[in-house]
Amino acid sequence: IPVAPFDFVIFGGTGDLSERKLLPALYYRQSQFSEPTRIIGASRAKLSDADFRDFARKAILEHVKEADIDEAELDTFLKRLSYVPVDAVSGDGFARLKKTLGSNGDAIRAFYLAVAPSLFGEISHKLRENELITPNSRIVVEKPIGRDLASARALNDQIGADFGEHQIFRIDHYLGKETVQNLMALRFANMLYEPLWNSAHIDHVQITVGETVGLEDRVTYYDKAGALRDMVQNHMLQLLCLVAMEAPSSMDANAVRDEKLKVLHSLKRINGAEAPKSTVRGQYRAGASSGGAVKGYLEELGNPGSTTETFVAIKAEIANWRWAGVPFYLRTGKRLAARVSEIVIEFKTIPHSIFGENAGRIQANQLVIRLQPDEGVKQWIMIKDPGPGGMRLRHIALDMSFADTFHDRNPDAYERLIMDVIRGNQTLFMRRDEVEAAWKWIDPIFNAWSDSNQEVQGYTAGTWGPSASIALIERDGRTWHES
Ligand code: BG6
Repeated sequence: IPVAPFDFVIFGGTGDLSERKLLPALYYRQSQFSEPTRIIGASRAKLSDADFRDFARKAILEHVKEADIDEAELDTFLKRLSYVPVDAVSGDGFARLKKTLGSNGDAIRAFYLAVAPSLFGEISHKLRENELITPNSRIVVEKPIGRDLASARALNDQIGADFGEHQIFRIDHYLGKETVQNLMALRFANMLYEPLWNSAHIDHVQITVGETVGLEDRVTYYDKAGALRDMVQNHMLQLLCLVAMEAPSSMDANAVRDEKLKVLHSLKRINGAEAPKSTVRGQYRAGASSGGAVKGYLEELGNPGSTTETFVAIKAEIANWRWAGVPFYLRTGKRLAARVSEIVIEFKTIPHSIFGENAGRIQANQLVIRLQPDEGVKQWIMIKDPGPGGMRLRHIALDMSFADTFHDRNPDAYERLIMDVIRGNQTLFMRRDEVEAAWKWIDPIFNAWSDSNQEVQGYTAGTWGPSASIALIERDGRTWHES
């Protein structure tokens, strides 16, 4: 479905996010554009339009699949691009940006801030001072939105002074992933699961986001952030909310976000005494990953004193009627054994077996939602083993792989999210109160870690994290689902 014409201004237009994600996503969605749609790069570098087009061309050739590149389409795309050098601090360039955008007060404008969060406030204020914000303007920001509750509030205040909440799009790219949206379909477009989706029938939930990469080129950012801020405060908690929330009254943005917010408010606070039992901090040591030897975090970083965690496991609990007594085990880390993100809903075992000992062990039903790679849904059930051996039972998976079932390209999260920005649909974006409620739960964990000097435990790169994370779940008589 085509969208109305728009101007898309990328602050940090020549940065990494623009190169790897934004420009390729815009290229893929060009068939939905109406004329005139323009993309304007803005950053401190003194480039010409031609330089920016050159940059974009290279970005697309590198990050779009060869088979999806059409030279004529690419030329049309590049013609939409222009560039304005802008200095967010001194304010130089904003007048020129205003001239470039023109005076159409109804135009849809998206200002995408692909820059350091320390510049969010400056840019937002300068946009207002220079009268660049039209009623149809939106501002898009990426995490990290703060490093704790106080700094998140300050950032939200800064942007909120210039833009209304309905104009602020806070990206959590996990919400744009196909399979994450599919969680909503699975829960609310089927009769099968919802009646069982509660503490009476579900034993526990596991959410794993495993990565094989290490620090990549993000030394400065990552060492200040760590896995709890980088992955748990946002992506993991968003996934938890989608699993745990009540049915919203519709897919309307506020209806969905109201329900997620209630889950965040119901998360049981992890305080100083509980942190050592309910959380594990890890840091990778040298090992092997993706078939090669890799350095440990400290060597990669070049700072032997860092205690930043590259792995976290948490036993979270939701104190409400639906979930009381159902633990949500979360784990995420860099340099783990595999790049796997999945959600496992483990149901309770049957109350009584009629089959006798020879039938074998009756295992719990599990619903496994694989977010990446190999997107799919597996429903593990017990069946009778076919054949003459009597009533022997087996645990097998009804297996739906997206790649085998749908042959379409799986679009990148940014494609959907960018088009939602243009349409003004905030369902897949985080509202201010959600971000702050997430920090309210995260802050005490950090405080507990520092108050009790909770140790960062080493784990060998290429494994599933410190052994304490295995103990975290096994202590409760459960095991991590083998990914
Ligand atoms: C980002 C984190 O938000 O998500 C990165 O900052 C992480 O550290 C990335 O690697 C993971 O995203 P994806 O889409 O590759 O799972």
